Amino acid sequence: MVKIKISRNQFLVLLGCTLVFVIVLIVVLRIVWGGVRQPIAFNHQIHAANDLECLDCHPYYEEQASSGRPTLETCITCHEEPLGESNAERKLIEYINSKEEIKWERLYDVPEDVYFSHRRHVVLGNIECSTCHGDIGESPRPPSKPIKIKMKKCMKCHEEKEVDNDCIACHI
Ligand code: HEC
Ligand code: HEC
Ligand code: HEC
Ligand code: HEC
Ligand code: HEC
Repeated sequence: MVKIKISRNQFLVLLGCTLVFVIVLIVVLRIVWGGVRQPIAFNHQIHAANDLECLDCHPYYEEQASSGRPTLETCITCHEEPLGESNAERKLIEYINSKEEIKWERLYDVPEDVYFSHRRHVVLGNIECSTCHGDIGESPRPPSKPIKIKMKKCMKCHEEKEVDNDCIACHI
């Protein structure tokens, strides 16, 4: 048998390298599996700080079931000429110049058989966006993975507000 002798310092260095390797591996796997990579690292915070309202880019929640997501048309109203010097904005202007729609990945998505209406909740129920979406409207970068609003959360609030909680209220 060959015995390998290592000093305490060598052991610590080895341990450190192993840790770094494992962390890098986890990060890479998260990106490859289940991660969301938006085409542009969109920054909600900057737009909120410049007094844009959610309605400016998500135009339907007062009238329809869906909130809607912005098309390139919306971005063009302000970004035809660059406002700053960021890479993210440069990328946006490339999309604008080539008239190519940006394919934003979906973050929130209920299953096909579940009915959800924004108008019902935001207008009639008077519920803030952040109650369901947290601070996404003020965050500096998109979340790294899709977010699930669980049935338990829907039902808990319905119970508190004495709204219909029959299966068929939500499952059509
Ligand atoms: C300047 C335009 C703009 C404004 C203003 C804006 N958003 Fe967005 N929003 C976007 C874009 C672009 C995306 C897609 C990129 C992303 O995921 O960040 C998005 C994504 C979202 C999503 C995820 C959509 C999905 O795919 O499921 C939510 C939720 C959202 N925004 C909420 C808000 C709220 C709440 C506000 C107001 C506080 C707001 N947004 C204001 C442009 C905007
Ligand atoms: C009503 C005007 C307005 C609209 C509409 C708008 N923006 Fe902006 N956007 C701004 C302002 C103001 C800034 C901040 C500029 C600065 O200070 O550099 C900004 C900054 C940005 C930046 C650079 C931020 C960074 O990360 O450095 C990007 C990228 C961007 N917007 C993308 C978008 C996209 C995508 C849309 C369409 C979904 C959009 N914007 C719609 C006004 C607007
Ligand atoms: C009661 C919870 C709730 C509230 C309040 C709420 N949302 Fe949503 N939102 C959802 C759910 C659930 C989905 C997924 C819907 C689907 O898959 O059809 C969603 C999806 C979205 C989407 C992406 C898809 C779409 O509908 O076009 C955007 C953008 C969005 N919400 C923005 C907003 C904004 C802006 C507000 C506030 C004005 C808001 N939401 C308030 C629960 C909520
Ligand atoms: C924070 C509280 C809250 C959350 C979370 C919530 N709801 Fe609601 N929901 C309400 C309120 C309040 C109403 C009644 C609004 C009105 O019409 O006055 C309602 C009404 C509804 C209705 C119409 C029910 C009927 O028959 O009258 C459906 C369907 C529904 N919600 C589905 C959902 C789904 C699906 C989710 C989760 C993705 C959800 N809700 C999450 C508060 C909530
Ligand atoms: C207030 C709205 C609401 C009510 C009421 C509700 N659900 Fe759901 N349900 C959801 C949402 C949203 C999802 C998707 C999110 C999740 O899986 O947690 C879901 C998911 C499910 C799923 C997973 C399969 C799928 O549809 O993708 C089953 C099974 C289910 N519900 C059964 C039921 C039964 C049985 C009842 C009645 C006892 C019920 N639900 C009542 C909102 C509701």
